[in-house]
Amino acid sequence: MYLCICQAIRERDVDAAIRAGARKPSDVFRACGKNPQCGSCACDLRQRIAQTMAHEEARPPSLMAAD
Ligand code: FES
Repeated sequence: MYLCICQAIRERDVDAAIRAGARKPSDVFRACGKNPQCGSCACDLRQRIAQTMAHEEARPPSLMAAD
């Protein structure tokens, strides 16, 4: 599913950016090598970052090492 229509950034792209250290929408754009256009995806990107970070923090350390 696309989270940013303007730049065709998908959920999996956002997740990869988060794993690489992205913690805010501008980080995601930078990690994807894109620039924001309309900005209407910012709330969705923030929500995805929060959800993914919460999920990652809830994982046992042994599972994180398997990635
Ligand atoms: S939907 Fe992401 S910049 Fe427009």
